Amino acid sequence: MAQISVTVDGVAYRDEVEPRLLLVHYLRDRLGRTGTPVGCDTSNCGACTVLLDGSSVKSCSVLAVQADGRSVTTIQGLSSNGDWHPVQHAFHQCHALQCGYCTPGMVLASVDLLSRNPDPSDTEIREGLEGNLCRCTGYQNIVAAVRSAGAVMRERAPQGEPQREQAGSGVA
Ligand code: FES
Ligand code: FES
Repeated sequence: MAQISVTVDGVAYRDEVEPRLLLVHYLRDRLGRTGTPVGCDTSNCGACTVLLDGSSVKSCSVLAVQADGRSVTTIQGLSSNGDWHPVQHAFHQCHALQCGYCTPGMVLASVDLLSRNPDPSDTEIREGLEGNLCRCTGYQNIVAAVRSAGAVMRERAPQGEPQREQAGSGVA
C-alpha cells in the first residue's frame, strides 16, 4: 500500500491506496465522485476526464499514486459558490448534451482548452477535444458552447491574468 495526499475539489484527503489503483476508481469508489464516469476500458473515450493541477487527464490512464501531492478537479468541484462555471452554463444554453455521459469529461477538457487558448477557432476546438468522444450530439453544439464560453471568460478575465487560474477553482 502507498500513502497519498491529494486535494480533490478543494478538499484535502490522505489515504492508503494500492499502487495499481487507477485515479478514476479512487475518485469514484473511495471519494464518491461518481460524477466522473467510466465510458470504456481502452483510454479512448475521455468520459473520465478530470483536471490534474489544472490540466485535463483521462483519470482511467492515471494511477492514484500519481496524484500524490497534487490537486484534482472533477465535474463536482467545478462550480464556485453554487455558480456554474461558464463552460457549464454554455453547454446548458447551447444544448451541447443529450444523454450526458460524455459531458463531465467534455466540460473539463473544454475548461483546459480555454485556459491554454482563450479564443480558439472552431478547428482548434475540434482538435482540442479530439480525445473526448460523444455518441449523441454530432459535436456541432459542443463547439458552439466552447466558443460561447470562451467569449464569456475573455470578457470576465482580469487584464493580464492568465485564465488557467480560474479553471478548477471549485470548492466542495
Ligand atoms: S473511461 Fe474512456 S478514456 Fe477513461
Ligand atoms: S451527450 Fe451522449 S455521449 Fe455525448
